[in-house]
Amino acid sequence: MQRECDALRTKGKRIVLVPTMGYLHEGHLSLIREGRSRGDFLVVSIFVNPTQFGPREDFQAYPRDLKRDVQLMKPERVDAVFYPDAREMYGAHFQTSIRLSCLPKYLCGRSRPTHFTGVATVVAKLFNIVRPHVALFGEKDFQQLLVIRRMVEDLNFDVEVIGVPTVREPDGLAMSSRNTYLTAEQRAAALSLFQSLKEARKQVLEGERDAAKILQRASDRIRAYPEATIDYVAICDPETLQPLEKITRPALMALAVKIDKTRLIDNIMLCPEGMSGSDPGR
Ligand code: PAJ
Repeated sequence: MQRECDALRTKGKRIVLVPTMGYLHEGHLSLIREGRSRGDFLVVSIFVNPTQFGPREDFQAYPRDLKRDVQLMKPERVDAVFYPDAREMYGAHFQTSIRLSCLPKYLCGRSRPTHFTGVATVVAKLFNIVRPHVALFGEKDFQQLLVIRRMVEDLNFDVEVIGVPTVREPDGLAMSSRNTYLTAEQRAAALSLFQSLKEARKQVLEGERDAAKILQRASDRIRAYPEATIDYVAICDPETLQPLEKITRPALMALAVKIDKTRLIDNIMLCPEGMSGSDPGR
């Protein structure tokens, strides 16, 4: 992969990378389509990265189906699928990692303390292997996008990072490979994530500025479903992720909720003066 990409680079081709863990859905495909328009050689990586899963998380159960993924990518004119093996990525003596000091203290990093070290490290490796000019990440994983942007700046990676808006099911549920775990009943409960975000946006547009009040209403809505357990619901600065008490400027509202054993995340921008956020206002 590295040899091939180096040769293309030397010929002046613009290389684009879309990193994924596979089991592709329309969210991934929107990154791929955006990526297609931004360069000459489009690489999609598929690697269920063991180091970003905690010991009690779903690494083993995570859905995998390469044939299906290749089929879904057929119409998208992907130039290469990079599908490494875990032993290839992490040899027996592997010991280097990239750990960010502040961003992982918030949101998902609180309940997944090693997650972003795993993400940053694997993405750095992918950047060094593929050497892309451009890499695309979804805003659905907003904290991940910030972590990657920070790492690229801090470590002088010569990569342009592009964020792509969240793709949703027609009813608003953010697309996720983990949605396949949900039963019909759980799926109804899962919808409370986006519904509570939408309601928060409405409250802000109607003049509410008190984050605690908005968070309370969102939590109540989610807790109405017995199968839902809140990990966090937060309103924070969209760059530092520090909590905000008052919404006087664009703020990120993010949440993580377990529906039975399935952990789902979602987020939306709250904009006080009716400024448009990263998400289509439903
Ligand atoms: P994965 O969950 O497979 O997601 C791959 C990319 O697709 C990420 O950038 C993610 O934000 C984006 N994505 C997922 N669901 C989306 C949706 N509904 N709309 C828009 N984009 C969406 O994120 C990872 O894999 C891994 O952490 C990875 C970056 C590959 C590192 O291992």
